[in-house]
Amino acid sequence: MERTFVMVKPDGVQRNLVGEVIRRFESKGFTLVGLKLMSVSRELAEQHYDVHRERPFFAGLVEFITSSPVVATVWEGEGVVASARKIIGATNPLTAELGTIRGDYGVSIGRNLIHGSDAIETAQREISLWFKDEELVSWKPSL
Ligand code: CMP
Repeated sequence: MERTFVMVKPDGVQRNLVGEVIRRFESKGFTLVGLKLMSVSRELAEQHYDVHRERPFFAGLVEFITSSPVVATVWEGEGVVASARKIIGATNPLTAELGTIRGDYGVSIGRNLIHGSDAIETAQREISLWFKDEELVSWKPSL
């Protein structure tokens, strides 16, 4: 079954949006299979954002992600990678549609509250970067 990685960034945690993020994914019908509050090491932040290494905002991005705790989650369900991107909204909260998390709660591209994997292969890479196998719980809702 398809899985994706979703991280509530330091700004999302500090603005008490963890519950709202989880609620939106649960309400949509996806299954939570991994969840942890954690401080992010510089090494992990740099690996996670490796694709942006040459961008002018890279150093600031790493600084920000390591500045205070994040909530790392893994969600499971059919089409969850693309659907999570829709729930999260466009990278820039100012242009993200209302009704998306970034569109409803954000105003700054550098403080866009949340990250979601952009493709199935990226999701696999990010999940294995952030979670050990034993931290993920395989289960199916039965009710
Ligand atoms: P995210 O989905 O986590 O992926 C890369 C992040 O880089 C992105 O969200 C933004 O928070 C950040 N980012 C992208 N473009 C810029 C920019 N121009 N200035 C600052 N941060 C940016």
